[in-house]
Amino acid sequence: MPHHGPSLSDSASVIARLDAESRRFIASSAARRASLELKGASAFTAVTQALIELRADLRIVELSARAIAEEIDHSGIYLAFARAYSTDDVPAPRPEPIDLPVYPGVGDDGQRLLRAIGMCSINETMACSFLELCLEGATVAPIREGLRCVLEDEVRHARIGWACLGSPLVGDAERRLVSDWLMPMLRAQWQGWSDQIATLPEGERAEHGCPSAGAIERASRASVLDLVLPGFARAGVDVSRATAWFERAAEPPTIVARDRT
Ligand SMILES: [Fe+2]
Ligand SMILES: [Fe+2]
Repeated sequence: MPHHGPSLSDSASVIARLDAESRRFIASSAARRASLELKGASAFTAVTQALIELRADLRIVELSARAIAEEIDHSGIYLAFARAYSTDDVPAPRPEPIDLPVYPGVGDDGQRLLRAIGMCSINETMACSFLELCLEGATVAPIREGLRCVLEDEVRHARIGWACLGSPLVGDAERRLVSDWLMPMLRAQWQGWSDQIATLPEGERAEHGCPSAGAIERASRASVLDLVLPGFARAGVDVSRATAWFERAAEPPTIVARDRT
């Protein structure tokens, strides 16, 4: 949803008092998120198509269809942040198609189901934890308001995956399929997050919604262990292989060791 809370212009004096390096740091972080959110919109066009082809429940299809526009809104929220903090022009990102994951040897409906579940139950759940972390440190009112709007939507996006898992789309055979592919799906999503974290600039501006790379890495890890894996286990998916892999792969020092706080 477009947000109508405290406006960024109300915080113009707070922003104007910042040093140039902080403004650059926050603006570039926001611009990066604006383009990632737009990729989310592309992902949800594919998820929506997949859910229609699977003849998913109308309520699930609707959540996913709305998510396309919501991700575009999120991109706009971050673009506005970037423009408020940057002293230069910040161009709007352009929509682009994304490469969809392919699960070798899996039939068409299985591909559709795994894409929807990987995107929503894993990625969107991790996005919720990331936003909670950003909100925890943010003190600038319009930033908090924007982050809150985004978080509210991401919670629903994650629910699309969990709703699929609890729906008639998933019987015993599908639960086995998800069990077989959980580890590779998690590995791919974790890799995506790790690549993002690893390329973050050093430093943090938590009051402006930009936590450190180390804090993001810890929150992502906790999200997988405390929310994602238990969510799959509750849905009757076998999480043992994925859990064993994750505990090895995501040991704290592997990703970001430079700015532990
Ligand atoms: Fe989003
Ligand atoms: Fe989302």
